[in-house]
Amino acid sequence: MLSKRLEEALNKQIQIEAESSQVYLSMASWAEVQGLEGVAGFMYGHSDEERMHMLKLVKYVNERGGHAKITTLKAPKIEFGSFQKMFEELYEHEIFVSKSINDLVHICLEEKDYATHNFLQWYVAEQIEEEALARTVLDKINLIGDDKGGLYLFDRDVQQITVESAAMDNPQ
Ligand code: FEO
Repeated sequence: MLSKRLEEALNKQIQIEAESSQVYLSMASWAEVQGLEGVAGFMYGHSDEERMHMLKLVKYVNERGGHAKITTLKAPKIEFGSFQKMFEELYEHEIFVSKSINDLVHICLEEKDYATHNFLQWYVAEQIEEEALARTVLDKINLIGDDKGGLYLFDRDVQQITVESAAMDNPQ
C-alpha cells in the first residue's frame, strides 16, 4: 500500500509525464507545419513515449492500492520560434523531468517504500538516456546553425538518432 505522501508525489509525476507528451505533440505539430517531416516524426514518437511513461505510472499507482488521478494539464506552447530554441526547450524539459524523478526516489527512501524505489529505477535509467538523446540532438542543431542544407540533412536523418548513438556521442 502506498503512503498518501508517495501517492500524491506519484500523481504529480503522472501529470508531468502527461504534460511532457503534450509538449512534444505540440512541437511535432509546429515542426510539421514548418515542413520538417523528419523532426515532426521524431517529436510524434517522443510524445508517444511520454504517454507510455505516464500509463506505466497510472497502472503502478492503482496496482498498489492508490488512485491514479487524471487531471487537467497545463497547455503547452504552440509556437517555438526556431528549431534551435525548440530543441533547447526539449533538453531543459528533460532535465526538469530527471529532477522530478530524483525527488520522487528521495521520497521513496524517506517513506521506506522499497518496492516503489525499485519500480522507479526504470525511470532513473530512462532519464539518463533521454537526456543523452536530447543533448546529442541539440549539439547537432547548434552545429548546423542557419545552414539550410544542414537542416535538410538533419531533418532526413533525425529519426535515426537513437539512444545508442547518443550514448556513443556522450560517454558517461
Ligand atoms: Fe518521461 Fe522524457 O521523460
